[in-house]
Amino acid sequence: MKTVEISAFAPAKINLTLHVTGRRADGYHLLDSLVVFADIGDELRLRPARGLTLQVSGPMADGVPRDDRNLALRAARAAGVLDVAISLKKHLPAAAGIGGGSSDAAAVLRALKEGWGVSVGDVAALGADLPVCMAARTTRMSGVGEIVTQVNGIPPLPAVLVNPGTAIPTPAVFAALQEQDGTPMDAIPAFADAESCACWLSAQRNDLEPPAIEIAPEIGDCLEMLLAQGALSARMSGSGATCFGLFASQSDAACAADALKLQQPNWWIQQTVLGA
Ligand code: C5P
Repeated sequence: MKTVEISAFAPAKINLTLHVTGRRADGYHLLDSLVVFADIGDELRLRPARGLTLQVSGPMADGVPRDDRNLALRAARAAGVLDVAISLKKHLPAAAGIGGGSSDAAAVLRALKEGWGVSVGDVAALGADLPVCMAARTTRMSGVGEIVTQVNGIPPLPAVLVNPGTAIPTPAVFAALQEQDGTPMDAIPAFADAESCACWLSAQRNDLEPPAIEIAPEIGDCLEMLLAQGALSARMSGSGATCFGLFASQSDAACAADALKLQQPNWWIQQTVLGA
């Protein structure tokens, strides 16, 4: 048994685009998505213990399940490791479209591989976002999430993430999805900077944004407020409610984040760099 503690970082996952291109017979949707990771995320520590336990702390710990609904515990069980104490410091909001639970589970699996020498064969069985979160780098995600292709040529993108505090269950957003155009994203060019990325993004979509705004109209407010603060582009990530705005520089992003925090002191607002 491993005797030292292992730390693992679970970065926020951001879908720069999310095109729904079809539907499988089992109801799962076919996706085409450009995914980047932020420099902010949850922190995990794993240490050998008698039994499998999870302790949750941190600024976003409220309401996070401590039982088997938590993907971090499910990941350890799936790997067959029942002698580990997991401590999870939550910085990311849950049910927020930024892969919090999946990224935590992927971090657990990375740590268990390093420290316990075990791995899980079919990580997708734990959730559609698991394969991309295992990659934890800029990626094109397709299939229902299980096809993950590395993408190069995306520069570090200064950004602000905004979540209005509305937890949205992913199945509800997919269920509210109306007929959509079904086309995949355009070919991904090598971007010189955030401006050229924002320009390309303006012709791409997140097909889950309209149904999510129907469920939680405040998502529309997040997008408008990001644009009003000078975002080059603003869009929702995943099934929401977190939205991101891209900025030309980190100082522009910092100014926008400060202004938004003054306007909405109860929202979760974070300056970050995507894809660094
Ligand atoms: O796999 P995961 O538990 O993250 O998915 C949550 C729900 O989101 C699924 O039960 C399904 O309703 C929906 N979903 C989907 N198509 C995907 C991923 C998720 O319809 N590719």
